[in-house]
Amino acid sequence: MKADFAIIGGTGVYDPGVLQDPVSHVIQTPYGDAHVTLGEYAGKKVAFMPRHGKGHAVPPHKVNYRANLHALKQIGVTQVLATAAVGSVKKEFRPGSLVLINDFIDMTKSRNAAFHEGENGVIHIDMTDPYCGRVRDCIQQVAKSEGIELIQGGTYVCTEGPRFETAAEIRMYAQWGGDVVGMTSVPEVVLAKEAEMCYATVAIVTNYCTGVSSTVLTHQEVVDEMKANIEKVRKLFFRVIQE
Ligand code: HPA
Repeated sequence: MKADFAIIGGTGVYDPGVLQDPVSHVIQTPYGDAHVTLGEYAGKKVAFMPRHGKGHAVPPHKVNYRANLHALKQIGVTQVLATAAVGSVKKEFRPGSLVLINDFIDMTKSRNAAFHEGENGVIHIDMTDPYCGRVRDCIQQVAKSEGIELIQGGTYVCTEGPRFETAAEIRMYAQWGGDVVGMTSVPEVVLAKEAEMCYATVAIVTNYCTGVSSTVLTHQEVVDEMKANIEKVRKLFFRVIQE
């Protein structure tokens, strides 16, 4: 069981897409089981992992991030391409936009965010470039050549969830320099870095955050907007894998 690339699907992304000969596997890790579908695309071995399980069974604060990332490392993955649904703090990042995330602010509270817990000494992971610059460059080039609009860079505020934010929280995140808000990028990006896998996220803006728009935010709106835009991200990712 081997793969070079992994695609992690966010809310509404439960289907391995154009993978050839997809086979589901359960991978045992020291942190519990992880579920992946392995297949091929353009001669490359690709693992697909729906972050929330099939049909969105696992809420963001209960995702077993360590098992997921450990499993990808175990099967040899070196590059992880992740999608994520996000709300937008800024009027100019409209619903339907794709954002290539390049930094984060961690507002999570109860998640295991490290593989090493001091058993082999203390390890501090560098966060100068949390989202891999090399894969980001590749994604940017593919977006340009395919004519896919992609906002180059955005700071992802990761909240604990599963509730949405208050308007006051969103005002604070905006002042801090946050661009988009989601519930899953941390600790996923941190664990990928610790495991020395190149990790990038293309976020899909599904809504304006609380208080940015005057309407009430629902999970259905997030799912619908993801569905409407996921094909663009799929195309981007599979072209990156093909490169
Ligand atoms: N807040 C947090 N997470 C989200 C949002 C939001 O507005 N939209 C999609 N995921």
